[in-house]
Amino acid sequence: MPKKFYITTPIYYVNARPHIGHAYTTIACDTIARRHRMLGDDTWFLTGTDEHGQKIERAAQAAGKTPQQFADEVSAQFRALWKHMGLTPDDFIRTTSDRHKKGVQALWRKIRDNGYIYKGTYTGQYCVSDELYVDAEPGAPCPDCGRPTETVHEENYYFKLSAFQDQLIRLYTEHPDFIRPETRRNEVLSFVRGGLRDLSISRSTFSWGIPVPDDPKHVVYVWLDALANYITALGYGSADTSKYEKYWPADVHMIGKEIVRFHCVYWPAFLLAAGLPLPKGITAHGWLLFEESKMSKSRGNIVRAETIVDVLGADALRYFLLREVVFGSDGSFSFDALVQRYNSDLANGLGNLASRTLTMITRYFRGEVPYPSHSAQTPADAAIADAAKKVIADFAALFDQYQFSRALEAAWGLVAAVDKYIVENEPWSLDEKKDEESRARLATVLYTSAEALRIVTALAHPVIPEATAKIWSQMGLGDIKKFDLTQLQWGQLRLGTKLGEVQAVFPRADKSAVERMQKMEESGASVVTGVSPVQPSEAKQPMAASTETKPAAKPAPAIPDGKISIDDFAKVELRVAQVKTAERVKGADKLLRLEVDLGTEVRQLVAGIAESYAPETLIGRKVVVVANLAPRKLRGLESNGMIVAASPEGGKAVLAGFLEDVPIGTRLK
Ligand code: ME8
Ligand code: MG
Repeated sequence: MPKKFYITTPIYYVNARPHIGHAYTTIACDTIARRHRMLGDDTWFLTGTDEHGQKIERAAQAAGKTPQQFADEVSAQFRALWKHMGLTPDDFIRTTSDRHKKGVQALWRKIRDNGYIYKGTYTGQYCVSDELYVDAEPGAPCPDCGRPTETVHEENYYFKLSAFQDQLIRLYTEHPDFIRPETRRNEVLSFVRGGLRDLSISRSTFSWGIPVPDDPKHVVYVWLDALANYITALGYGSADTSKYEKYWPADVHMIGKEIVRFHCVYWPAFLLAAGLPLPKGITAHGWLLFEESKMSKSRGNIVRAETIVDVLGADALRYFLLREVVFGSDGSFSFDALVQRYNSDLANGLGNLASRTLTMITRYFRGEVPYPSHSAQTPADAAIADAAKKVIADFAALFDQYQFSRALEAAWGLVAAVDKYIVENEPWSLDEKKDEESRARLATVLYTSAEALRIVTALAHPVIPEATAKIWSQMGLGDIKKFDLTQLQWGQLRLGTKLGEVQAVFPRADKSAVERMQKMEESGASVVTGVSPVQPSEAKQPMAASTETKPAAKPAPAIPDGKISIDDFAKVELRVAQVKTAERVKGADKLLRLEVDLGTEVRQLVAGIAESYAPETLIGRKVVVVANLAPRKLRGLESNGMIVAASPEGGKAVLAGFLEDVPIGTRLK
């Protein structure tokens, strides 16, 4: 029997369209769900939209639409985006659907029949933005979000939350993993120890909600309505409860840290009152910050996922968020950091390892995985195998604790180790030697590299599903979705496996990528509050508002005799770089395509030195590069900078170099 695994995201409010904060939680859950599916677990991944309440009612009003019309539109945008991003929820629950309404009413009746609901009146403050009853003086701001609160005076129903204080404290102490991470658990524990008062669970001064059973003047408080989605989506309260029987209780509710109280106090209390099993755990992650504050719809400082997906692909966003942000803590988003990570870890990291390894197997072994001869083995091969075995174990352990950044760091440590191994073992030189011993060694080096590549690819699949599926099929391994991750071990790559066509999976992003994304965001800036939803396609249109011209650069003061000033020289950014890869450019006798490491980034250059240097002799060599040259294209390849060489008349070019060693990235001045 496969294990079942049920994971949920919060259901997102439809007051505005999604941004990468929503994408973040959904990506994390998608990644976890994908890994569980690869491990053979019977996995159910739920997401959806939260469509009732005063906040939505008002947003719809502002947009001049009925709440239902408005909710239909924005909910559709969430679904369209998740699809566009290749996310794989098994179900999408909408709180305005019939199945949900019936389930909520069934839950209400159950709690009421068990004696935990009574009628009263509520007078106090309410924060519409958080849909939260606030303990504050009239006129005081919301202690959570700082926005003004409103005074509510209405007939209502109360839930006997106070009856559950002791049970909840016992729950948190007996199951320390119920709330993760620990900081959040401690917050909740002290909140509950501070005493619980009964909670208002109905509203009667507006009507956009689910009618309370037997008293339809009231609508169910939107948080009771929303939290119930986790069971109504499984058919709780309907005629067919088979999914509920199978998947409930949830293995994890994934949420952002601002909604911990609702999930860790109210939700378990509602379930206890209804006599239903509790979720196994709730995990709260931190906030994505943009320009130093929490990215949020109301603040308008948002970045849309579409922008990043359209320029760099969904894998880039997934990898960045899970690698860069320590899960559980807040993390800043910036386009520069995104592009830097993309280039260093994906284009030059995994992408480059895949294309160089598979290209060499294609070239030297006619595209068939070669035999790793035992007689040709060295400690370096064993070191890679050992590192890979350790990565398999470490990745699993870290991933299970949702330490995505550390898990990825471990896997990418293997990528770097194999890169170094290839450089040190110089397969290209072994190929030139042609003797049997070199040939055996070449086979071993390439087998080892390919096997390590296979392992990283399998582990990374849940995080970067698109690219890893491509690498997997380029390796001749078929459909990665069919791979049983429980079987992943060193040495399974079969000899003679015929590779598919080798293609780059992560094209390098140049500087203009940042600008392009920024412009796409600026052009959408007027709609971020979401009152007039835009179609994703608008993101692709050129920015209309960017026609302002840059101020012209001031010309340097003229200096006679054709001399330049020191300021002119200072404009040229010369840096020490190390050649990482070098190869001939097809159809161009003079050109080499190089990838050079500038310390901060690896870049592609195209240099006219093919007649002077054989590509393999350049690997590892330190050279001088003009780093701030505008990019240009040579034979369709973008060249980002220029390598400095002495070029004697009629003679061969000689590269500039150093007699003493200098660190990579050092500026020449
Ligand atoms: O709270 N950083 O919906 P919501 C990280 N409907 N995550 C973020 C984020 C950010 N800057 N912004 C949003 C609601 N999120 C309720 C939930 S559940 C029964 C009802 C993510 O649209 C994060 O998961 O305000 C956060 O908890 C959620 O979106 C809030 O979405
Ligand atoms: Mg608030």
